[in-house]
Amino acid sequence: MKQRVTITLNGRKASAEAEPRMLLSDFIRHELGATGTHVGCEHGVCGCCTVIIDGVAGRSCLTFAVQADGAKIETIESLAPDDTTMNDLQQAFQRHHALQCGFCTAGILMSFTNYLAGTPNPTRQEVTEVLGGHLCRCTGYSNIVDAVMDVVASRNGAPAGAA
Ligand code: FES
Ligand code: FES
Repeated sequence: MKQRVTITLNGRKASAEAEPRMLLSDFIRHELGATGTHVGCEHGVCGCCTVIIDGVAGRSCLTFAVQADGAKIETIESLAPDDTTMNDLQQAFQRHHALQCGFCTAGILMSFTNYLAGTPNPTRQEVTEVLGGHLCRCTGYSNIVDAVMDVVASRNGAPAGAA
């Protein structure tokens, strides 16, 4: 039997009915229309579906929608300040060619959004370890690490693009 699930999605209340077995990833995409969250493996391996749930990055394919009732969820749609401007992390990914098809990118951006909020000055090795939670089939991981380290440097005072 369907149940009503209400979440705060990117700062706005959103509500819809969900079967108890419906995944949070499907709920966000199909019931709430926020299709920026991608779904790859659907069993917790690829990291494509990563969103921030009550302040913690997590796999939305490993969470049932009903478990998220009442939660605050942030998705890729929360990053850009407006329809024509990307945030600094997104811009760094563009500068460093840290994506090709972009299928994995939303999840990676959400992981690092969450990680850098708590760890503003990580080492390259630490960034590489966080990236280990994601699979990317086309970019090559070093450009992604370069992009994140660029943002780390600029948030710590270096000019953007200097890293
Ligand atoms: S779709 Fe969730 S980890 Fe792959
Ligand atoms: S950019 Fe294509 S899978 Fe990562």
